[in-house]
Amino acid sequence: MGVIDLRSDTVTKPTEEMRAAMAAAEVGDDVYEDDPTVKMLEEESAALTGQEAGLFVTSGTQGNLVALLCHCRRGDGAIIGRNCHIYNYEAGGLAVLGGILPLLADDAGGIVKKEEVESWVIPPDVHKAPAKLLCLENTHNREGGTAVAPDIFKEVTDAAKVKGLKVHLDGARIFNAATAWDVDVRKYTAEVDSVQFCLSKGLGSPVGSMLCGPKEFIREARHWRKRLGGGLRQVGVLAAAGLISIRKMKDRLIEDHKNAQKLANMLADGGLFVEEPGRRTNMVYFSVGPDGPDANAVVEACKKEGILFNSVSDRRIRLVTHLGITESDVETAARSILREAFAS
Ligand SMILES: Cc1ncc(COP(=O)(O)O)c(C=O)c1O
Repeated sequence: MGVIDLRSDTVTKPTEEMRAAMAAAEVGDDVYEDDPTVKMLEEESAALTGQEAGLFVTSGTQGNLVALLCHCRRGDGAIIGRNCHIYNYEAGGLAVLGGILPLLADDAGGIVKKEEVESWVIPPDVHKAPAKLLCLENTHNREGGTAVAPDIFKEVTDAAKVKGLKVHLDGARIFNAATAWDVDVRKYTAEVDSVQFCLSKGLGSPVGSMLCGPKEFIREARHWRKRLGGGLRQVGVLAAAGLISIRKMKDRLIEDHKNAQKLANMLADGGLFVEEPGRRTNMVYFSVGPDGPDANAVVEACKKEGILFNSVSDRRIRLVTHLGITESDVETAARSILREAFAS
């Protein structure tokens, strides 16, 4: 029996087409900026996101960190949602390496409210770290993988700009958001000063993310990336897969969303407490309820049946659909989860 891996969309393996393109990639030394495949990926990513320039980075975490290091100096504040990935899961890089103070804001529902953004911008005060940047995340992982509506997103980015803030978008799954609202991704990415998106999640590449923004910002980002040890050499072998991600793989994300919705429906029909994000993408969060077994017990029991997923707290579980998950996998997984959740 094959394993059904719903832990994350980071578990995808490169397609045959990607492997062939990687093997055949034309390469050069990218620290000298002469890898033609990387250049192509950077140019196409910039055009796709409506930004002037792009930079290949090793991971989403590196892309976000480089962006924050460019936008803020030591002692500056960055407004960040309490549930955001940058604050919760990136090892405090902004504080450790940037001396940046996270100014925490409520992001329940997937985005920080405009009023809260405005309230962080205050006249110069010797006691305070001045707010310089707003960080947004879309889709919002911990908020159910919800995709924020383009008009709400714009309202918040406009409010930040009026207050003189820069805006960075952690768009690890921004193509999922654009798919969920059926809009061009530029509805989000052209509204911000910088955007990071992941090639290695729903888009299926084995490694890498893109950071896009104005030319001068990307010049500085290249410098920070080098300082962080992220200046890679014949990295066209990875960029070749990235090109397939941005040219072809974004068009299949809708399948992942349909599979996630089917999974959510089956679990809810079976009696589990399934969270309803404002707009579902490729994630399903649910809880087994106060009388059910501990979330970890369900995780461990299903693991024995070859169904893998993670708990995010004692009672809350996350499932993620992706390239490696079919409709029939979703049906098998739902049956197994329901059996184990109501086993006792
Ligand atoms: C919303 C979000 N941002 C950033 C990242 C970081 O990406 P990476 O794992 O490539 O560092 C992740 C990873 O899961 C994520 O979910």
